Amino acid sequence: MSTNTDDAYHKIRAPARAKPSGCPIDHDFTTFDDDYLTNPYPDLARVREEHPIFYSEKLGFLVVTRMQDLLEIFGNHEVYSSENVQDPVFPVCERAAEILAAEDFNPVAVMSNKQQPDHSRIKKYTMRGFSARRMKMLEPYVKKRSHELVDAMMANGTQAEFVSSFGHPLPGQTIFRFIGFPEADDEKLISWTSNRLAFTWGNPDEEEQADIANKMLRYWRYCREFVAKRKTDRADDLTSELLDAHDANPEELAYREVESIIYGLSFAGHEIVSNYMSNSLLCLLPRRDDWDAIRADKSLIPNALEEVLRFESPQTSWRRVTNVDTEVAGIKVPEGTQVFLSLGAANHEPELFPSPEKFDIHRDNAKKHISFGYGIHFCLGARLARLEGEIAIQTLSERLPDLRLVDGQNLSYSPNITFRGPEQLFVEWGG
Ligand code: HEM
Repeated sequence: MSTNTDDAYHKIRAPARAKPSGCPIDHDFTTFDDDYLTNPYPDLARVREEHPIFYSEKLGFLVVTRMQDLLEIFGNHEVYSSENVQDPVFPVCERAAEILAAEDFNPVAVMSNKQQPDHSRIKKYTMRGFSARRMKMLEPYVKKRSHELVDAMMANGTQAEFVSSFGHPLPGQTIFRFIGFPEADDEKLISWTSNRLAFTWGNPDEEEQADIANKMLRYWRYCREFVAKRKTDRADDLTSELLDAHDANPEELAYREVESIIYGLSFAGHEIVSNYMSNSLLCLLPRRDDWDAIRADKSLIPNALEEVLRFESPQTSWRRVTNVDTEVAGIKVPEGTQVFLSLGAANHEPELFPSPEKFDIHRDNAKKHISFGYGIHFCLGARLARLEGEIAIQTLSERLPDLRLVDGQNLSYSPNITFRGPEQLFVEWGG
């Protein structure tokens, strides 16, 4: 097993935290408060105004909230390493650690937590895999699946729980087709890849941790078997493309790296896109003028969805750790400091986005959000996420023009430091 080597995809020990000196200290700020989970933006506006960079005693992170500082940090990968982005925020319990200690559980870091020069070596191949041609190939599938999911919702009456009936299956199945997994395996694949975010970024209890760890192990084994099968049985899919690259130059792209890319993708692009779709409905459905405007003019959808990514991003933070002693905005930051980059705070900065608490589908700089990150680790799946979001909203607005949120529901958000979307979202139509 490789859960604590430098090169491991997952490390199971929460990392040590250095503490910067000479900066404001906030004793209360945490992402685990009910208020923050319900709506983080008032809290983020307060801290950004009071002290744009501060040390959160409760989280053990240096919290950075302003866009210009975020861009500086994201842009300086030599000083601010991304090696911590897949580390668990809290230590993994013994039961889960034992499960992941299986001899054959050995995915390696390949993308978000891979460092230079290997990150660029690998990204050359993954970017090729996310080509415009492959996105075009996926488009008919995403459209067909969106319609089928709406058909199933309508066949069941005039109300549905959106996350389980549309938001969650659509991005999961899209990635599975992209990778090449057979449709017959979708049900088990969806169950193995669900709730993964809580493992690394949340604080699940022991029972839940063991359950997720078991699913991670089974999913890794499935990925390895699938890649092995594709060695002799190629198709027009991402796995085959990566194996071709490996065969052509095994020194450039190792076989274990191919297996690990396949393993990582379903996590990187599944739950977050589900949250993105739910957040889009939460923004658009109560604002009937906006919903009617995009129904009448589909060309408004792309900018409306950029505004969703700014206003109610499915990812409100990301992390870095300092490689050396450094300084940001006049604050001395020692080596080993865990840095919490508040994408949500920067996306609501009033100097950049006037009236930031207003959701405006016509905002001319909505796309300037930082929800896909910045620099060498910029989101590999941004194009795919945008495609899925646009097709989903277009299909729902066409097929269910009077779609609305069910009144009086209490939304719950999974407690974690980074991802944001309702666990369930009830919608209705007709009637
Ligand atoms: C709305 C949906 C999504 C959001 C908001 C999002 C956001 C992000 C963010 C903030 C990063 C970190 C960037 C950085 O460190 O600078 C990232 C990286 C990444 N994302 Fe996404 N993501 C989304 C969808 C997807 C999808 C659909 C996939 C793939 C199927 C994906 C794959 C990745 C990968 C592989 C990386 C690491 C890239 C690298 O290290 O070079 N993401 N994403």
